[in-house]
Amino acid sequence: MNKLVQLLIYTLLLFILFSCGGGGKNSNNETTDNGVKIAIIGDQSISDNAHKLLKMIKDEGAELLVINGDFDYKNNPAAWEKMHDEILGPDFPIIAVAGNHDADDSWELWQEYQRITADWDANPHLSCTGIPGEQSTCLYRGIKIVSVSPNQFDYDHVNYINKALDGDNAWKICAWHKNMNKMQTGGKLDETGWGVYEACKEQGALITTAHEHAYARSYLFSDIEHQVIADNNPKSAKLSRGKTIVILSGLGGKSSRPLQRDDNWWAHRENANTGAVAGALICSFGKTSNKADCYFKDIKKGVVDTFTLRKP
Ligand SMILES: [Fe+2]
Repeated sequence: MNKLVQLLIYTLLLFILFSCGGGGKNSNNETTDNGVKIAIIGDQSISDNAHKLLKMIKDEGAELLVINGDFDYKNNPAAWEKMHDEILGPDFPIIAVAGNHDADDSWELWQEYQRITADWDANPHLSCTGIPGEQSTCLYRGIKIVSVSPNQFDYDHVNYINKALDGDNAWKICAWHKNMNKMQTGGKLDETGWGVYEACKEQGALITTAHEHAYARSYLFSDIEHQVIADNNPKSAKLSRGKTIVILSGLGGKSSRPLQRDDNWWAHRENANTGAVAGALICSFGKTSNKADCYFKDIKKGVVDTFTLRKP
């Protein structure tokens, strides 16, 4: 082959390499920095919609899936695990924490689910400590995810959160299943206590929950228990020690429920009233910046909410 042709091929290969690698693309096809793209869902099932949602999560380029409880609703751990293996691939990093439908029925059944969450925690791309599916801390590419199970497993979750998150300037995500009534948009009762919310807020960690089958994103809180809003910017929130937002992400495929509470601390809500079917919160956490680009995408409606997070 003549030298000129060789040079042209090398140049073309280099161009392809640099245009595909490095930064990601968000849903609006805008380039982000070398973000770590994480999808967060809850209340899944093994329904058609749950399958479609996992496919969408993969197509969006998410590299880690966080599941905030209520897995398959069929007491069928094998089928639930198989769904993820088949759609995301057996090596895809997943962190899952127990919901009531997974751990209420029998200890033996929970043991089967926990075996799966323990396998997932052992993924070589994750570095996890603690009790899989009950109370654990995982690091993924510098992002810290603390999963707890208030009102499900009887540990001191507040103390655990304090210790797990203290003195850390990384992006931090708190993940659990249940709610306080005012931190969801349906009929769920006060179950978790305010302590876990306030502990994560004190550390400036993004709070994500599920249990109610809807999506809701709050404004920036300085006091979650008393719903004190520090900033009502609808499109961005600056997380810091003592300030964070709460995101309910319970549209994992099981169902979409109607709005039952109408509160002024939500920046965006999706539920049966808005026509949402099933969707995921997806955030690209900046590696080289203190900014995260986030969106909620529904399998039927597409992207319905976009916002940015910042950390100090
Ligand atoms: Fe639940």
